[in-house]
Amino acid sequence: MNDSPRPPVVVRTRPELEAARAALTGTVAVVMTMGALHDGHASLVRQARQEADHVVMTIFLNPLQFGRNEDLAKYPRTFDADLGLCTAEGVDVVFAPGPDVVYPDGDPGVRVSAGRLGDLLEGKSRPGHFDGVLTVVAKLLHLIRPDRAYFGQKDAQQLLLIRRMVRDLDFGCEVVAVPTVRESDGLAMSSRNTYLTPLDREVALVLPTALGAGESHAPEGASAVRRAARDVLVREPLCLVDYLVLVHPMTLEDVPEWYRGEALLAVAARVGTTRLIDNVLVNIGADGEQARSV
Ligand code: PAF
Repeated sequence: MNDSPRPPVVVRTRPELEAARAALTGTVAVVMTMGALHDGHASLVRQARQEADHVVMTIFLNPLQFGRNEDLAKYPRTFDADLGLCTAEGVDVVFAPGPDVVYPDGDPGVRVSAGRLGDLLEGKSRPGHFDGVLTVVAKLLHLIRPDRAYFGQKDAQQLLLIRRMVRDLDFGCEVVAVPTVRESDGLAMSSRNTYLTPLDREVALVLPTALGAGESHAPEGASAVRRAARDVLVREPLCLVDYLVLVHPMTLEDVPEWYRGEALLAVAARVGTTRLIDNVLVNIGADGEQARSV
């Protein structure tokens, strides 16, 4: 008897996808990625597998969400290793189209607008980024017609905007958030971590350290959280902070001092040539035990 895991069916065209999708009976989950898979993606697949009969993964490096000066050309492309992860994790179908399949008419004249929420935080530094994300996510949801779609909490603003799009535009699938997966020293897993030099890698640890410091002050209120996180970040001059915010998780507006409840402590920074983001959900005003269980 051969117990080795079965590789996924790999499809690249719309008719191939249509046929593979039609063969899936029961509930279908989708995990959307741009490749360069790591344990964070594996955890999305694991949760998806527990909650649905079949898992479809998309691997598509979406040009629409990269700005002119961003890292599309050098973004890691590791398709063979990605397929290995999909095989090990039991993905049923991998949809890995080229840009000509996703955008057959070239640059789409009509895009999904992320609206005001898309201009905040990441959107300020990356204009148009979330319109590009939502446009491709909308297209992939239409093509795959999943019951559930799994996204990481690490990209908190992306997750929020996808939730809003699915709800506001009646996509009729469930969006599931999966907790951030971290290296043993706390660094959030990201495909972009491969750009970090050994020195950058050490410097980058200031991000989870700052978030942890902020979180530990949650019982004292918003300004104590912000102060504690900022005090850690300023001690690392090689980490160039773009933003550090404590915001409401639904509106992304700064929470006032009197605020009590769940808030998103989020940071973006450049370390060497790499832009990194990270966040934690903190429970403002709750005692330590409650704060940790958010
Ligand atoms: O998070 C990502 O990898 C991408 O933004 C996504 C959701 C696959 C859309 O291209």
